[in-house]
Amino acid sequence: MSITSTALTHEELQRAARDHLWMHFTRMGGYRDAEVPIIVRGDGCYLEDSKGKRYLDALAGLFSVNIGYGFGEEIGQAALEQMRELPFYTNWSYAHPRAIELAQTVADLAPGDLNRVFFVSGGSEAVESAWKLARQYYLARGEKRVPSADETRHDQRVGLPPPHRYKAIARQVAYHGTTFGALSINGIPSLRAPFEPLVPEVRHVSNTNRYHRPVEETEEEFTRFLLAELEQTIEAMGPETVCLVHMEPVQNAGGAFTPPAGYWQGVRALCDRYDILLSADEVITGFGRVGAWFGSERYDIRPDIVCCAKGLSSSYASIGAVIATDRVMEPFMADTTMYAHGITFGGHPVMSAIALKNIEIMKRERIVEGVREHEDAFRATLEQLLDLPIVGDVRGVGFFYALELVKDKETRETFTDEECESLLRGFLSGALFDRGLICRADDRGDPVIQISPPLVARQAEFDEMVGILGDVLAEAGQRVKRGS
Ligand SMILES: Cc1ncc(COP(=O)(O)O)c(C=O)c1O
Repeated sequence: MSITSTALTHEELQRAARDHLWMHFTRMGGYRDAEVPIIVRGDGCYLEDSKGKRYLDALAGLFSVNIGYGFGEEIGQAALEQMRELPFYTNWSYAHPRAIELAQTVADLAPGDLNRVFFVSGGSEAVESAWKLARQYYLARGEKRVPSADETRHDQRVGLPPPHRYKAIARQVAYHGTTFGALSINGIPSLRAPFEPLVPEVRHVSNTNRYHRPVEETEEEFTRFLLAELEQTIEAMGPETVCLVHMEPVQNAGGAFTPPAGYWQGVRALCDRYDILLSADEVITGFGRVGAWFGSERYDIRPDIVCCAKGLSSSYASIGAVIATDRVMEPFMADTTMYAHGITFGGHPVMSAIALKNIEIMKRERIVEGVREHEDAFRATLEQLLDLPIVGDVRGVGFFYALELVKDKETRETFTDEECESLLRGFLSGALFDRGLICRADDRGDPVIQISPPLVARQAEFDEMVGILGDVLAEAGQRVKRGS
């Protein structure tokens, strides 16, 4: 028996999972009687469950297993060697070779002068760290002094805000993680509501969903509208109090919203005008998903800060990073200034060794180039689904797509909450899974199917995805017609 195979039978695993495992974002009550899906192994773009059934993973884990599941042996060897050499040491006041090498490798890949890398354990921590970094950046620049504890207590008693930049702007329906800071940046009301009050003070501007904009509006007009709204929001919040604009190059939640022409250049210009740091949340788009090492490169975003995680290690490790430009780093190089933030596992040597090996594999296997070479074929294959009346829109870039489902294609009318519940949760998710396809039916915005396969997927996998999606969505369309 290999050390990784489980000693429990399928039935024992089921019982133990039902009794003890608390799954994330999962209605656990649904598993009182039903079987928990237990995935036991993976290879390439495929997964296998504890009953031996195979699935095409059109979601790459969680938009994250960029090299696919087939490199465990090679990456495991790198992890083993690191375990032997130095299983753990910290980045608190110390360095170690793997964190140094990974920081250099990431800085080389990141566009422009994004040269400084602060490691964390995942995406939420990266977003959390970006906001904290932005807050402290202005203090470190020496613009406003840090108030004494007495002054702070007094200001809090009389309800005065902190005397420095602390507010953030993000976009509606965007997902940025679950820890308190990251959750506060989130623009998904249903995820925020149970945990309010959240960290003050974030406002959310429109995302780049063009599908429900007036049909006669041009792309240029849409960009103008978005930028005007962003500027009004900055003005309304008080520009001297805003430290961060935080957005994804291509927004995932709501369904792969790509930016209209001129959008990012306009956002950058506004951040420059009001001296606000621009943070690109590349937790999904980083490391190849949109056909470039970073979405910031593809869209020429020129952010001050980049957050990344998932693809950094293709999720073979729990590691993320905040990458900062030389300009952001500069005040932290002065005298006794220190970014007052740290996490025990940030830059963990084994996680760093895994991420380094992942990047080595990505370069060797030409993973990013492969996305660019096959993205047109991927889009063309997905667009076949537009023949179905229920598929209103196919949008995305690289290997990052969404299908928006509509009740009426002519009017672009969407489904009610109850219809979404019965269509997405009650039918589509289960039917796709039964047919051996893992993708996500999501209604955090309008209902979409998210498709984001490992970056090693090719025409055979594109065809299989579209074959299964076509059958299941055709049936969903019939159900909608019947009203069942
Ligand atoms: C854009 C974005 N930011 C942040 C996060 C949070 O990452 P994590 O789940 O690793 O904390 C996610 C997770 O899906 C994400 O998609």
